Amino acid sequence: MKKKIRIVLGADHAGFTLKEDVKKYLNSLPDYQVEDVGTSNDASVDYPDIAKKAVERYFADPVNSLAILICGTGIGMSIAANKFPKIYCALSYDSFTAKMARQHNQANFLALGARVNYHEEITSIVSSFLNATAETGRHLRRFNKIKQLEGDK
Ligand code: RB5
Repeated sequence: MKKKIRIVLGADHAGFTLKEDVKKYLNSLPDYQVEDVGTSNDASVDYPDIAKKAVERYFADPVNSLAILICGTGIGMSIAANKFPKIYCALSYDSFTAKMARQHNQANFLALGARVNYHEEITSIVSSFLNATAETGRHLRRFNKIKQLEGDK
C-alpha cells in the first residue's frame, strides 16, 4: 500500500475554525494523513508557538511531510516558520500562487489567512499546493541559491 503523505496542520485561535475545515477536507482524501498540532479551540494563543510545534513535528519525517499553518492573515505564521532553517513557507491567497510555491520555490509549508475573504477557494488552494511538483532546471538552480543563502547566515 502507498504510504500516505503526512500533513502537519497548525493554527492559532484566529485560524482554528478554518483548520478544522481543512482537516475535514484532508481526511476526505485517500493520500494524506493529518497530524494536528493545535490549537484546539478559539482561546487566544500565540502563533509563533504553534509554528514552532509544527516545525518540530515536520522534522520528525521531513521527506514524507508538508505543513499547513493558519492564523488571521497567514503573515505571522509564515514569518515565524521561515525563521527555521530548511523551512520554506509560502503565504498564498489563491490557487495559482499555492501551485507556484511548490513548482518553482519548493515550498514545504503553506500559510493561509482565516480572516482573508477567500474561504470558498480554500480547498482549491490546498489541493493546488498538494498536487504540484517541483520543477527542475532553472527553478532548482534558484532554489539551491536560496539554500546557499541559508548556509551563509
Ligand atoms: C491574532 O489576532 C492575529 O494577529 C494572528 O492570527 C495573525 O493574523 C498574525 O499574523
